[in-house]
Formats: sequence, structure tokens, C-alpha cells
Amino acid sequence: MSTETLFRPFHLNGLALPNRIAMAPMTRSFSPGGIPRENVAEYYRKRAAGGVGLIITEGTAVERTGAANDPNVPHFFGEALDGWAEVVKAVHGEQGLIAPQLWHVGALPNRRNPKNETAESPSGVYMAGKNNGNAMSDEDVADAIAAFARAAGDAKRLGFDAVELHGAHGYLIDQFFWDVTNQRDGAWGGAALPERARFAAEMLKAVRAAVGPDFPVIIRLSQWKQQDFGYRLAPTPDELLAWLAPLADAGADAFHCSQRRFWEPEFPDIDGAEGLNFAGWAKKLTGKATISVGSVGLTGEFVAGMGGESSQPASLDGLIARMERDEFDLVAVGRALIVDPDWAHKVRDNRFGELTDYTTASLGTLV
Ligand SMILES: Cc1cc2nc3c(=O)[nH]c(=O)nc-3n(C[C@H](O)[C@H](O)[C@H](O)COP(=O)(O)O)c2cc1C
Repeated sequence: MSTETLFRPFHLNGLALPNRIAMAPMTRSFSPGGIPRENVAEYYRKRAAGGVGLIITEGTAVERTGAANDPNVPHFFGEALDGWAEVVKAVHGEQGLIAPQLWHVGALPNRRNPKNETAESPSGVYMAGKNNGNAMSDEDVADAIAAFARAAGDAKRLGFDAVELHGAHGYLIDQFFWDVTNQRDGAWGGAALPERARFAAEMLKAVRAAVGPDFPVIIRLSQWKQQDFGYRLAPTPDELLAWLAPLADAGADAFHCSQRRFWEPEFPDIDGAEGLNFAGWAKKLTGKATISVGSVGLTGEFVAGMGGESSQPASLDGLIARMERDEFDLVAVGRALIVDPDWAHKVRDNRFGELTDYTTASLGTLV
């Protein structure tokens, strides 16, 4: 199958992307003390040189207590901003485009930091019956929203091309969405998902105010949580629309719809086993741009990959067929780009024989 469809240009709120391939945000933990240095700039520069259309950086912590639970995850405030300016320069030097993924882990502990007293979250809970850190006051909530907005404004000021909010995978924003972790009364809680989406919606409004109308704002979402992989926040299209519509209204230009396997249909009872995936439904329901992701070009999925399972290069035919039908607009590639900065160019030039396996050992170095 021809890969041409992946190399059509796309416009995201005025940003001209040369092709449909994004680099998925991936925590690498190579920024001691929260500062991204030369090796991090070089890592992203290589992906730009290798033909990625839009690089989305690893999750980077906003300026709030407990936003990061790993001392080697980059910050997005203070001294770290000088390091990010160098990253932007390196990527732009290769004519690449780059967005930071703004992140706050909420109550989720890390194996290196299992009981984090500085953790903050909607209700001090990260899964059923599991507590960590403090429930946020309404003032904390307002400050957290302001921290994301400030970071988005800094991203624009530093020359980044777009910004992504990490609203997926069971971290802070998702802890507001999920009724298990959001047990609040009042303005930031509620029995219905659109009520619990208010935190993200207010954050999007604040981010939009900080960056202006013409700067692309993406929010990453997932039905699943790492605390509960089978969970689905929106089990029907109506509920999905009720979740996404307020986020679109609040200023999101694109939904980055995180799945572990992009080919899995979101509502197979409606459109069958080959039906639209999460990004497909999000685009159909909201009319917004969407990004799909999950096991592109690899045999295995990333959670098993974290557990040590290796993956081999896999056919792109299923992806190409969906993209030719314009089910979604962009596709994010994760692990395949960890092992091979030139993945996009190799795919463009049909050099499939040169693609490499992914192993967990690849995470040990930044190449
Ligand atoms: C090492 C690693 C770190 C990750 N860190 C993040 C992250 O910081 N933010 C995020 O939204 N997703 C993160 N993910 C998930 C990826 O963005 C992506 O959704 C997932 O790897 C599936 O894509 P793939 O199958 O192409 O690897 C991470 C995945 C990996 C493998």
C-alpha cells in the first residue's frame, strides 16, 4: 500500500503541518532536577530531522506542588524554560514543529516516590480505596488552572508551535473526569461527566486566553486509565459528545485520542468490528481535528512493552486505510520513534526493511 496519505499536509488552527505524523508524548526521565539539557534538545532535533510533522514532547510539569512525581521529568517553569528554548531552536533548525505536553500527575504515585505528601488531586484518591496526598481546595484548583495557562503562555513566548494538555491516562485532569477519583461536591465535582469536565473546560478557556485565538491547543484524552485499563468514561456516543462538546466550546482545536491499539473500534455495536476508533468518533461527533495513536507500526502495545515485551515492525495497511477515509487527521507514533528517529522518512521512502524492533532496553538511553 502507498504511504502517500500519511504525507499530505494539514492545517491545525493556522499551523501548517507538512505531514500527518506526530511524535507521541513520551516521558524519558533524562532531565535531572527538571532541566532539559543538550541531550534532550538533540533527541528532539533528530526526530525533526527524521521527518516528524509535529513533535509532542514528553509530559512536562507545570508549576504546582506535586505536578511531577519523578525528579528526572522536565519542568515547564523557572530555569527549565531556558532549556526548552534550546529545544525549540534545535527543532526549528531542522524545520520541525514542536508542542510541549503540559502535565500534572495529581495523586498518582511513582515507584520512585510511592507516598508523595505533596501530591494534590480532586479528592486525594488515585483509585478505588487508594489515597495519596491532599484533596485540593477551590483555591488550589484555581491556582492549578492558572499554572497550566501560564505554562501555555510561556510555550508561545518561547516559540513553540502549539501546546498539548495531558488530560489522559489517569493523571490530574483525568482524575477530575473520573468519578472514582473525583468525589467532590460543588463546582468541580458532580454526578455527570460534563460536570466533572468543568476543570478541563475552565483550563482550556484560561489557556486560550493566554495564547490567543490563533495558537493550536490540543487536549489528550483517554477512556482508559492506568489504574483501570478497561474503564470507559463515555460508553456511548451521546456520552462521548457530552464530554467533548464543552471542551471544544472552551477552546480545544484538537483531541488527541489515546488508545493502546488504534484499530480497536470505539462502539463496535454501532458500526461493527472495523468501525471508527476513538479519534474517528471524536472527529465525527465534534467536527474538530483529531489525532489517533496506539501500536502504529509495531506488533505489540506499549503497556506490555513497559513490562518487557518486545515488538517487531508491523504493516501500516490498516492505518493507511483509515487515514485514506479521513477518519482522523493525524497519527501519533510512540515507541517506533524512540528506537528510530528516521522512522517517518523510512516510511515515506518505503524503506520498511530498515525499521527496527522495540525493546524495553531502548528506554535506557536517549538516542
Ligand atoms: C516510555 C513511554 C513514556 C510515555 N510517556 C507518556 C507521557 O509523558 N504522556 C502521555 O500522554 N503518554 C505517554 N506515553 C504513551 C504514548 O504517548 C503512546 O500513547 C503510547 O506509547 C502508544 O503509542 P505507541 O504504541 O506508538 O508506542 C508513554 C509511552 C511510553 C512507551
